[in-house]
Amino acid sequence: MPETIKDMPVSVLIVDDTPENIQVLGSLLESKNYKIYAAQNGVQALKIADEKIHDIILLDVMMPELNGFETCKKLKESEKTKNIPVIFLTAKVETEDIVKGFEVGGVDYVTKPFNSSELLKRIETHTTLRRTTERLKQSNTSFKELVHILCHDLGNPIYAVQGILELGSEDKDFMLDNIDTMQTAIKNAGNIIEVIKTLRALEESKLKFETEVFQLKPLIEESAKIIDSKIKEKNIKMDIDVPIDVKVKVEKTTFINSVINNLLTNAIKFSEKGSSINISSQSVNDNTQLTIRDFGMGMPKSIKENLFKLNSVTTRTGTENEQGTGFGMPLVKKFINSYGGEIEINSWEKGDTSGEVGTEVKITLKSS
Ligand SMILES: Nc1ncnc2c1ncn2[C@@H]1O[C@H](COP(=O)(O)OP(=O)(O)OP(=O)(O)O)[C@@H](O)[C@H]1O
Ligand SMILES: [Mg+2]
Repeated sequence: MPETIKDMPVSVLIVDDTPENIQVLGSLLESKNYKIYAAQNGVQALKIADEKIHDIILLDVMMPELNGFETCKKLKESEKTKNIPVIFLTAKVETEDIVKGFEVGGVDYVTKPFNSSELLKRIETHTTLRRTTERLKQSNTSFKELVHILCHDLGNPIYAVQGILELGSEDKDFMLDNIDTMQTAIKNAGNIIEVIKTLRALEESKLKFETEVFQLKPLIEESAKIIDSKIKEKNIKMDIDVPIDVKVKVEKTTFINSVINNLLTNAIKFSEKGSSINISSQSVNDNTQLTIRDFGMGMPKSIKENLFKLNSVTTRTGTENEQGTGFGMPLVKKFINSYGGEIEINSWEKGDTSGEVGTEVKITLKSS
């Protein structure tokens, strides 16, 4: 097996209008355990590249209709295929062609007739580089998630305790009344640290979170309690209309401290003082649908479309200038999906033709 292979064979798309070339190249690469796909023209190549992500594309330059350069240009225009390295197979060695190849996004070129060991080495170099880059991007994503959990989700219980201690130092009754809340907050902070450890382990081994069936209402109440000071500060009227027998299958710590907490924090953050937030649930077959509806500022299409993408900036300050990292929603979606659930957002800005205003988050979760 080629060295770059860890869990999946390296797949190579060979594009050449001469079938014998595909055959020669194909059997050379197959003998090294590469997985081969072939196309005989540019149009076919674009179609195959769009259907399945390849590690590398070997692209003949001289082809009828769409030539190699034009094909490469199109590959680089598509979000899906733009990062796949393209090596040009060229019979011509004129400098002009080489430059053109790099200009349209090729990473390398090999002249025909090619030298087998040289070609193999080049393929290996570029596929290794690509896989390493993808891994780094992935770990950068995990790093951002980790920063969000540490700053935002772990911050909530810590600040809750701090707030109670501050007020409680002057008012002992207040302190006594809130011992339960502090205990819950500290327990949650400890659980979040465990979640962080689990997340690290998940990355290594692709474990799944252990989900269990819980009554939904107490989970929402626990989450709301942790951000009680935020609710009070903005004088938000929170209505939890969830029957006690409604159940959801989730992982408890992440559901309370990341999913519900982030959604409630957002609903509060982007609502004006004195607003309402309505939380309701509905049973649909074996699923539970939870709706969190706020009547705040809503979001423009540009934010809504990128809400779950970690690398696009969607963060805005809240109505009282609250700051954020913009990593909350991607993490919320990740956790919901890991329980086998789905999330959907509807949002209307002021002046929307529907007459609606605010944001509605709908989560569908398994109930058994
Ligand atoms: N309920 C909502 N109402 C209006 N806009 C929202 C709402 N929820 C999210 N958004 C928009 O989506 C953006 C991204 O939300 P997300 O929770 O991912 O990050 P954030 O709240 O900005 O930062 P963080 O969650 O890290 O504090 C927000 O900044 C805001 O622009
Ligand atoms: Mg947020």
